[in-house]
Amino acid sequence: MGVSGSGKTTVAEGISAATGLTFAEADGFHPPSNVELMRAGVPLEDAHRWPWLRELAGWMAERAAEGVSTVLACSALKRSYRDVLRQGPPSVDFVLLDGSAEVIRERMGRRSGHYMPASLLDSQIATLERPQPDERILTLDVALTPENLVAAAVSGLGLLPDGTG
Ligand SMILES: Nc1ncnc2c1ncn2[C@@H]1O[C@H](COP(=O)(O)OP(=O)(O)OP(=O)(O)O)[C@@H](O)[C@H]1O
Ligand SMILES: [Mg+2]
Repeated sequence: MGVSGSGKTTVAEGISAATGLTFAEADGFHPPSNVELMRAGVPLEDAHRWPWLRELAGWMAERAAEGVSTVLACSALKRSYRDVLRQGPPSVDFVLLDGSAEVIRERMGRRSGHYMPASLLDSQIATLERPQPDERILTLDVALTPENLVAAAVSGLGLLPDGTG
């Protein structure tokens, strides 16, 4: 979890590669109407997000029922969004990629071919609801390298890398 450009896709793919968890991009579960809004730079209302979050929870739950664990790249900025995701599989862990707006803004500026305009970063930062005391969310600093973030997530969540039994 984290704001746009915080490294969710990068780190989630890295966790998947290191552990064998099945990766999915949460943005890929948006209905076409939401994608159009995001392309136009219109922040989504919560009313747009509930069906999407329920879809994500359902996807994780279905995989879990097959004995498959998953890792999602999903902003999950609000407590209420995370609570919908928690209604999916038997257990859900979160990793917050947290850090300075300057670092993230600079990375966003370098990235091309992505439908989330950098102008949405401010609204995402304003929307982010940091972990509440009962949430037990692993918070990592985006200033770390992707390799270090993946290693910290794998060890912090107690996920065994492939090949270690
Ligand atoms: N720890 C890091 N150090 C340096 N660069 C990084 C790091 N993590 C991600 N990046 C780079 O920053 C950019 C944003 O990363 P990424 O696309 O993974 O973020 P995201 O959170 O998935 O964004 P979005 O919410 O828009 O999908 C990419 O160009 C990526 O290569
Ligand atoms: Mg992403």
